[in-house]
Amino acid sequence: MVTIVVGGQFGDEGKGKIVSYIAQKDNPEIIARAGVGPNAGHTVYKNGKKFGLRMIPCGFVNDDSKLLIGAGVLVDTERFLEEVEITGTKGRIFIDERCTVIEQKHRDADAGSSFLKNKIGTTGRGCGPANADRVNRTAKLARDEPALSAYIADVPLEIDKTIKAGGDVIVECSQGFGLSVYYGTYPYVTSKDTTASMAAVDIGIGPTKVDDVIIIYKAYMTRVGEGPMQSLITDENISKYPIWAGLLEKAEKQGLPGANANEKIAELLGEKGTVTKRLRRVGNFDFELAKRAAMINGATQIGVTCIDKIFPECYRKQHLEDLPKKCMDFIRLIEKKVGVSVTLISTGPEPEDIVDLRKV
Ligand code: GTP
Ligand code: IMP
Ligand code: MG
Repeated sequence: MVTIVVGGQFGDEGKGKIVSYIAQKDNPEIIARAGVGPNAGHTVYKNGKKFGLRMIPCGFVNDDSKLLIGAGVLVDTERFLEEVEITGTKGRIFIDERCTVIEQKHRDADAGSSFLKNKIGTTGRGCGPANADRVNRTAKLARDEPALSAYIADVPLEIDKTIKAGGDVIVECSQGFGLSVYYGTYPYVTSKDTTASMAAVDIGIGPTKVDDVIIIYKAYMTRVGEGPMQSLITDENISKYPIWAGLLEKAEKQGLPGANANEKIAELLGEKGTVTKRLRRVGNFDFELAKRAAMINGATQIGVTCIDKIFPECYRKQHLEDLPKKCMDFIRLIEKKVGVSVTLISTGPEPEDIVDLRKV
């Protein structure tokens, strides 16, 4: 079985958390990383310890799974080696020989360009310039980087062998639908498509090999970097939304900093970029965007994260009957508007904080 886990909003939906849970629960043979590259920042917990990962698949929390990074993913050599060390994954992590390597010139071009850095608000990790070099056919590949020689593999072949033997493969994407270079809010997007089809290309499997696509939505919206956000919470509209007004009151009581209501709430919810530490903008769940994202991703299931941040009574719950009615009304509304079943409801940051409704 091949299952792709993909972001349905603007990234940071909590894919890392969901993948870390599935990796432990389903015990897949392979966890394969797709997506753009080290512009991603995933937060995962293993035995209570927090990891901020940019390169290593979040599924590393399962010690028995083989970890693969697909050819479509940009590799930051130094960061990769650091994370191998931090996670202790040497011996079971491999990268495709065809991955593009990010070089210092790419980071300089990204962070040094006022268009990329200021107008688009990139993460400054060199991803756009490295992808441009790949398209221009001037990029360096992983097979030409001596420091990576111990990690080189033929990722599509490894995955094919596992599929043929009847094993399970979890594909973890990065970023989210609204950041797709084709389907997102261009030009305020990342340097590649971010949908499930791209993830299949990234790791080298054909579309007929994909069994399930789990699309992840946070229970509200967040966006880091520039670009439009339809459902943004502002000082003007906040009084219309009791949940947000309540969160603002809480933030103000705690004396949290922020130039406006949105920033104060982002502080309260801990909405800061994993990579850039920039404050994320927050907004209402955007049903239209969610529906379109599910359509273009071919989603078969939905995972909803951070439900506890808007319904604190849900915190760390593991059973459906323990979730309050107002929370379930919201879940049912997502299912109705998007037309896909919600099978995973995440109720806290650690892997076991989840209500799992999948038929296994
Ligand atoms: P990207 O590749 O950047 O999109 O990463 P991501 O989708 O893995 O999300 P990221 O880790 O950047 O941000 C999600 C944040 O929410 C992290 O700090 C997680 O620990 C946290 N988180 C995830 N799920 C839950 C949840 O259900 N409840 C709470 N309270 N926190 C959660
Ligand atoms: P780049 O991918 O670094 O070129 O950044 C382009 C845009 O995508 C910027 O708005 C970034 O903030 C956003 N972005 C890239 N990766 C992520 C991610 O993993 N989470 C959230 N936003 C991201
Ligand atoms: Mg992130």
